[in-house]
Amino acid sequence: MGLLENKIAIVTGAASGLGAASAMRFAAEGAAVMAVDVRGPKAAETAAAINEAGGHALSFAADVSMAEDVEAMVAETVAQFGGLDVLFSNAGTLRPGTAVELSVEDWDYVMGVNVRSVFLGAKYAVPAMEARGGGSIINTASISGLHGDGGAVVYAASKAAVINLTRALATDHAAAGIRVNAICPGTIATPPVLRMMSDPEVMAVNVNAHLLGRLGRPEEIAAAALWLASDESSFVTGEHLVVDGGLRAKSPLGTLADPRPAHRR
Ligand SMILES: NC(=O)c1ccc[n+]([C@@H]2O[C@H](COP(=O)([O-])OP(=O)(O)OC[C@H]3O[C@@H](n4cnc5c(N)ncnc54)[C@H](O)[C@@H]3O)[C@@H](O)[C@H]2O)c1
Repeated sequence: MGLLENKIAIVTGAASGLGAASAMRFAAEGAAVMAVDVRGPKAAETAAAINEAGGHALSFAADVSMAEDVEAMVAETVAQFGGLDVLFSNAGTLRPGTAVELSVEDWDYVMGVNVRSVFLGAKYAVPAMEARGGGSIINTASISGLHGDGGAVVYAASKAAVINLTRALATDHAAAGIRVNAICPGTIATPPVLRMMSDPEVMAVNVNAHLLGRLGRPEEIAAAALWLASDESSFVTGEHLVVDGGLRAKSPLGTLADPRPAHRR
């Protein structure tokens, strides 16, 4: 018996990366999955892969920053599957730039895709979950919401907003049996990250920043999302789960007793 047997789940950003891996894993654990992405045909490919593997999935094209799209996404899921138990608000985007470099349009765009989407997801999912007696909402934040990443002001601000929005949503909807949590991934090998790290030196810096000496795999975030989606995490709400291969645990000083580089100790 899977961890999400008889559950109905929406996964946004399901065309690629963390969302595709999570949609596949949720379905493998027994959930009926609505795979949602602004790239509708790509989301349909994820749904087809799930169905070919013996799971149950449909796809829906939606821009998660648009209220009417998110409302329709939830309504279609309830109409097709009969309810909603799990929302993984995972779609997100990044535009690099300092405050001086970043355009005002890019600020608004990223805040729309990364933060307004989480608000809208909750706005329309909560009533559907209340009708079922509860549910689980998971939002993809980032370790970039926990420290001051350089050259990405709006991404850092948006992911910090997701973490505190998660706490506020958890507070408002706990009495209805709805748990709300966030995941803060480290660097995970998804298509946009692999593009950004095509320079071997950039890749090496990132790999070495993680205690485990490698980037994460999308399936490792899917496993965390599955735990938060399932009843296995029934006493967890308002939290942000860091899944970063030890990136944040690693002191920039290295070994405090002898901070010389390893080759000089
Ligand atoms: N990969 C990492 O290292 C990493 C680290 C921390 C956080 N994250 C976050 O994880 C999430 C997934 O990222 P990923 O690395 O899998 O990237 P990805 O590009 O592989 O997947 C993101 C998906 O979101 C979709 N999307 C973008 N804008 C959308 C919109 N307006 N409406 C609907 N769908 C939209 C894209 O089409 C894409 O399929 C994002 O929120 C990202 O910020 C990723």
